[in-house]
Amino acid sequence: MYLYPIWVRLWHVINVILFIILIVTGLSMQYTGKQDYILVVSFARAVKWHNIGAILLTINYIIFVTGNIISENGRYYRISKKNFFSDLGKQLKFYSWNMFKSEKHPFPVTLDRKFNPLQKLTYVLAMYVALPLLIISGLGLMFPETVLNRFFGISGLILTDILHITMGFFLTLFMIIHIYTCTLGSKPSSLFKSMLSGFHESDES
Ligand code: HEM
Repeated sequence: MYLYPIWVRLWHVINVILFIILIVTGLSMQYTGKQDYILVVSFARAVKWHNIGAILLTINYIIFVTGNIISENGRYYRISKKNFFSDLGKQLKFYSWNMFKSEKHPFPVTLDRKFNPLQKLTYVLAMYVALPLLIISGLGLMFPETVLNRFFGISGLILTDILHITMGFFLTLFMIIHIYTCTLGSKPSSLFKSMLSGFHESDES
């Protein structure tokens, strides 16, 4: 079943590369001392590569949103209120219990349903909540003159920084859990192969 069109695969591989660059340079900026201690790259180099990576990630994100608006792929991200919590519960029960008893996936992949309810919710939260907040707060730090001086008596720049670091932390956590859940296809390597070839291997095989 062809589920991952070429533009999604290209967006995803660029997104992964940029995320890794941004995490490494972001951590370097946070932990590298001005003089004596360097974590992976020097502070100045980390700032330069973080800014370049951030601009490319923003462009890539615009491509993702536009692609989802103008192509059929966007329909997979639409959350329906019907059975929302019960479907989420079924999927959570599968991941935490039934999966270990080799039971079948409660929401097998079809042409109309690429993501299970939990996957869909985490993808929507990551792509349409956390990533925009990360990008907006990052732009605020890149152009500090655009940030409010004070907000309820607290420095606007510090609040923007806290928002940026928090979203970066959540998205890094998302990425780690995402890589794990991507091993839960019909075989541990199936979903990774799908992201390369575009074709989904049936869960029943
Ligand atoms: C080394 C890092 C990563 C690996 C190995 C990886 C792997 C995969 C794989 C195998 C899939 C296909 C399975 C599925 O549809 O769920 C996928 C889909 C997806 N990944 Fe990742 N991923 C990584 C990082 C990320 C990051 C950093 C993000 C976003 C912040 C992300 C967002 C997505 C989204 C939104 C999809 C669904 C795309 C679509 O079909 O519309 N991934 N990923």
